[in-house]
Amino acid sequence: KLINFSIDLPGGELPVMLNKQLYGWTIENMFKNAIDAMKGRGDLSIVITRDTSYAKVLISDTGKGIPKSKFHSIFEPGFTTKKRGWGLGLSLAKRIIEEYHDGRVSVLKSEIDKGTTMQISLKLI
Ligand SMILES: Nc1ncnc2c1ncn2[C@@H]1O[C@H](COP(=O)(O)OP(=O)(O)OP(=O)(O)O)[C@@H](O)[C@H]1O
Ligand SMILES: [Mg+2]
Repeated sequence: KLINFSIDLPGGELPVMLNKQLYGWTIENMFKNAIDAMKGRGDLSIVITRDTSYAKVLISDTGKGIPKSKFHSIFEPGFTTKKRGWGLGLSLAKRIIEEYHDGRVSVLKSEIDKGTTMQISLKLI
């Protein structure tokens, strides 16, 4: 009840090669990160759009944000800022998206104490 969730999907179809299980796992992990960053309270949104070659999945939260200097290191295995974190979620997400989906995952934007938007790009077929 403390998370205000919104979802914005495109009208038409976006054909991508998707491993449902791995993609589902990736989204779940990124949602968990978002909720952790918001300490369980805030706005969480998922927006799906496209450009010419990619479907774009944008996951935004109103959490603590990520410093610019860490935009890349958060994807390294073992990088965590959490007491009980393994630092594995994003490194596996990156592998799943890059190696199984011919895609990309990145921090689209983030501002300290304002929030973060993570972007998954999936190659359209
Ligand atoms: N949405 C986010 N907002 C702020 N920081 C984030 C966000 N997503 C990831 N991070 C930062 O990136 C780090 C790495 O994330 P990652 O999911 O790889 O590991 P983790 O969540 O710490 O542990 P786990 O292995 O349980 O997922 C986090 O510890 C956190 O500092
Ligand atoms: Mg995580």
